[in-house]
Amino acid sequence: MFITLEGPEGSGKSSQLPILADWLRQQGFKVHTTREPGGTLIGDQIRAILGNLENTNMLPRTEILLFLASRAQLVEEVMRPLLAEGVIILCDRYADSTLAYQGYGHGVDLDTLRQLLNFATGGLYPDLTLLLDLDVETGLQRRKQSGGEWNRLDAYALAFHQRVRQGYLALAQAESQRWITINADQSFNDVQYALRKALASSLSITAKA
Ligand code: TYD
Repeated sequence: MFITLEGPEGSGKSSQLPILADWLRQQGFKVHTTREPGGTLIGDQIRAILGNLENTNMLPRTEILLFLASRAQLVEEVMRPLLAEGVIILCDRYADSTLAYQGYGHGVDLDTLRQLLNFATGGLYPDLTLLLDLDVETGLQRRKQSGGEWNRLDAYALAFHQRVRQGYLALAQAESQRWITINADQSFNDVQYALRKALASSLSITAKA
């Protein structure tokens, strides 16, 4: 089973994900966690290019192709073989990030992006996507306070991040059987519990706080 976590900046995906994975392992599942861009040696090198503050002149098309290159490598090198073995993959961001950020955020044509995504992923899409939804200003504030890496991609205007959030909500609404939206403006433990409950119903197990 292929599960993705999506959400705007500061939604807490990246800190929730390893704990969620440990919980799944305790339930007896084999789990592999990964993140985008990255997740392979080549993907991590691409991530460094994308995040480099010196690359201010990176063109939108270049950026898209780099995200997709990282994803293509991850799909073939890591995901398909593990999924074939029955491992659950929990991925921090995937194709929906491209639709939300490059599509809704930067205004790139969504149909074009979908074609590119099909090419890059060979048609591999998640079975379930958990959206950690959060007010944009709260998210950016959290992100700054956490002192985490503040990279080139965080530095876009507030309006951009607002379009990203609305994009996610639109994607979730359009494909409601695949998405579960979780309110990320709760305590860490409450968000973790909501994530477990969402997974539990998909995996037919019980979530305990
Ligand atoms: P990262 O440091 O992983 O941020 P986060 O913790 O919020 O996931 O940086 C990833 C950044 O890349 C984030 O700003 C979202 C952006 N992104 C895209 O714009 N398009 C994509 O396809 C992906 C995977 C990420």
